[in-house]
Amino acid sequence: MKIAVSFLEIKKNLIENIKKLNNAKISTFHFDIMDGCFVLNKTRDFEEDKQLAQIMAKPFDVHLMVKDVKKYVDWYAKLNPEWITFHLEIGNTKELIKYIKRKKLDVGISIKPDTSIEKIIPYLDEIDVVLLMSVPPGKGGQKFLKKTTARIEYLYKYRQQKNLSFLIQVDGGINDKTIKEVSKADVVVVGSYITKCKEYDNQVENLIKGVKNN
Ligand code: DX5
Ligand code: ZN
Repeated sequence: MKIAVSFLEIKKNLIENIKKLNNAKISTFHFDIMDGCFVLNKTRDFEEDKQLAQIMAKPFDVHLMVKDVKKYVDWYAKLNPEWITFHLEIGNTKELIKYIKRKKLDVGISIKPDTSIEKIIPYLDEIDVVLLMSVPPGKGGQKFLKKTTARIEYLYKYRQQKNLSFLIQVDGGINDKTIKEVSKADVVVVGSYITKCKEYDNQVENLIKGVKNN
């Protein structure tokens, strides 16, 4: 299982803290992008993110919580992420998959906790990542939703049965306790549990222990 860190809840000294995260034992960064429209909050502008991406010494993925997906794909594709994820709830899914693939990037689709999991089935043989939200998208520090575990299990079994290869990524409310509930995920996004504490590596160690004690 890989740990991707979300720095959404770091409100001060972002550049310094990203440099500190470069040295922490996390696998990748997770960029949360919000437009104040698909979700209420709004994140940094693209120029600032470009600067952050230049500082990052680890690969990163981009999670678009935005309505105008194409506009943001045009911007963030320039930063060369591992993949770009948009939300299934936006609609126009087939076209958006093609749009990202044309940029020679891997594609992720995110699904909100209340969206029925079956709705993602028609796209699973075309995409690289499913980003299962374990909290409603829009802010960090929310409580993990228990129903996520069954949703991971469903995707895990489906992938096995159909011999598919998409990654299962889980996002929201992960800490040293809830990580046990998502042990079948390939990538877990962790935000405030790591970034609200000064000792980043300590928190990462606790997460790893949490999975091992399962
Ligand atoms: C929520 C974001 C997440 C989130 C993770 O909309 O997609 O990446 O901020 O943060 P925590 O771990 O604090 O829930
Ligand atoms: Zn996210």
